[in-house]
Amino acid sequence: MKIVEVRHPLIQHKLGLMRRAGISTKEFRELASEVASLLTYEATKDLETVEQRIDGWAGPLTVHQIKGKKVTIVPILRAGLGMLPGVLDMIPAAKVSVVGLQRNEETLEPIAYYEKLTGRMDERIALIVDPMLATAGTLVATVDMLKAAGCKRIKGLFLVAAPQGLKRIEAAHPDVEIYTASIDERLNEHGYILPGLGDAGDKIFGTK
Ligand code: PRP
Ligand code: URA
Repeated sequence: MKIVEVRHPLIQHKLGLMRRAGISTKEFRELASEVASLLTYEATKDLETVEQRIDGWAGPLTVHQIKGKKVTIVPILRAGLGMLPGVLDMIPAAKVSVVGLQRNEETLEPIAYYEKLTGRMDERIALIVDPMLATAGTLVATVDMLKAAGCKRIKGLFLVAAPQGLKRIEAAHPDVEIYTASIDERLNEHGYILPGLGDAGDKIFGTK
């Protein structure tokens, strides 16, 4: 399975800022989006391009354009919305397929409550975005949904991932590619990532 911990200095710096206790909603939100842009750059490195003849300012020339149908970004409600602007900055023409899942705080199992996918999922690369990959229950359920809709190529972008969750997604869906700004140490007894970021949704939306 392809798991990439993107150790670019800009990503590491920004993630370090996000880990500070007492960070403001504004700063956390801005940084989540900035790191998402940088992860997108890394995760799209291998997209195929095709040559196209165009009329340039000085005459005809050949340029390279991304092949096939537009990418679809899949933000997982609610915290994934915090990464969406940064991904759209890099791929402004992407289609957005929103899914809503929330972990039950006791069982840690996800409950799906929303799904609105764009058309022709079988012809698109899906970029799932969610700040946290903890037990991976949410990610496995999201990939199940996307595959049921015909999706064949799926990548996931995360700010922080836990080793336990990475093992689970590898067992369930080894074909999915994971790009994360950090692989952290472990989960605590409540399923939170350590050292992690705390509750990413609350920090992005300013709740609690
Ligand atoms: C968080 C996070 C992931 C999920 C990760 O969302 O944004 O979606 O938990 O946990 P898992 O890997 O153990 O499934 P949460 O359920 O707190 O919902 P929210 O985004 O609405 O805050
Ligand atoms: N969801 C979060 O927001 N944070 C975690 O550490 C785990 C799940």
